[in-house]
Amino acid sequence: MSDEHSRPGDHRADDATVPAVPPADGNGAELTEQLDPGQLGEHDEVEEREEALEAAAAMKGSSAAAKSLEGVAAEPGSRKPDPILVADDVSRRFGGLKAVDVSHLEVQRGTITALIGPNGAGKSTFFNLVSGFDKPNTGTWSFKGTDLTGMSAYKIARLGMVRTFQLTKALMRLTTLENVMLGATGQRGEHFLPAIFKPSWSGQEADNEKRADELLERFKLTHMRDEFAGTMSGGQRKLLEMARAMMVRPSLIMLDEPMAGVNPALTQSLLGHIQALRDEGTTIVLVEHDMDVIMSISDWIICFAEGKVIAEGTPADIRSNQAVIDAYLGTSRALPADEKEPSP
Ligand SMILES: Nc1ncnc2c1ncn2[C@@H]1O[C@H](COP(=O)(O)OP(=O)(O)OP(=O)(O)O)[C@@H](O)[C@H]1O
Ligand SMILES: [Mg+2]
Repeated sequence: MSDEHSRPGDHRADDATVPAVPPADGNGAELTEQLDPGQLGEHDEVEEREEALEAAAAMKGSSAAAKSLEGVAAEPGSRKPDPILVADDVSRRFGGLKAVDVSHLEVQRGTITALIGPNGAGKSTFFNLVSGFDKPNTGTWSFKGTDLTGMSAYKIARLGMVRTFQLTKALMRLTTLENVMLGATGQRGEHFLPAIFKPSWSGQEADNEKRADELLERFKLTHMRDEFAGTMSGGQRKLLEMARAMMVRPSLIMLDEPMAGVNPALTQSLLGHIQALRDEGTTIVLVEHDMDVIMSISDWIICFAEGKVIAEGTPADIRSNQAVIDAYLGTSRALPADEKEPSP
């Protein structure tokens, strides 16, 4: 159908998409309005406006984060004005190997802070330690001023610090909804006495289901709600992990390679989700190898090598940091070129 030259209201009776006679239910005027090409133009404008508003919100979030980091020294272990996570002398040995050896690290509240570094630098091990999934040999750390040293992962999550895993941990024989609901903590039904008085926690279960449904909607997984997680693609499982982590309304979320193995379209939507979370006030700590992603999304970057923090700074600082360049030399992963390739 070629409607290139049609004007608003110029409907023809032989056009199969437009009813010649308004339906008898009295909605004819609305229907004609819905189909009016002029309206389509307006719809596009609304979408464009919405996109512009979203972009403006993201800009606001990133500029607020950038402002909060103004004046912070671009050096390992630098102090932040409002740190949400502070770690001191955290170390972890595996046999003769010191996988993590962090003398001081602070994460500024409300930022997207990236942890980068070559393979085996200790990024995931550091996540495991501070989130309570592994025990360090030495060290203390605090979250929102509360000492977390020795605390279980479950309690840490209840305090509002959650993480996702480099290899997703969806339970394949549970549905998507059930997997997301597993993220809820502090369930009254988990304790013996309240459990025998079901009505006291069934209301909570309904609340959890409502929250899980909202998250499925947010991460565009509603169509998978009642499917087994085993049927999801790798990228969908990454989204599922984020949704599950969000069940506790965390104030800090640690994402270990959320984009790995995800197709480019889903990567874009994941990036959008991460920025939106930061713009709502959630602090994000992100481990990621894709340097283009890191440089475009991060407010602050902390670089690990051989278990230690070797550099910190804004994307611009890190791009030209010699210690970072040296750490990546000889590895298959490289920093993106600072300058454009000279044209031939
Ligand atoms: N459970 C373990 N037992 C023994 N060694 C381990 C264990 N977990 C990690 N390591 C070692 O600790 C070092 C740090 O590993 P880690 O997984 O933290 O690195 P990473 O920075 O996350 O690397 P990648 O970018 O490849 O994910 C590596 O040398 C790794 O082999
Ligand atoms: Mg890792």
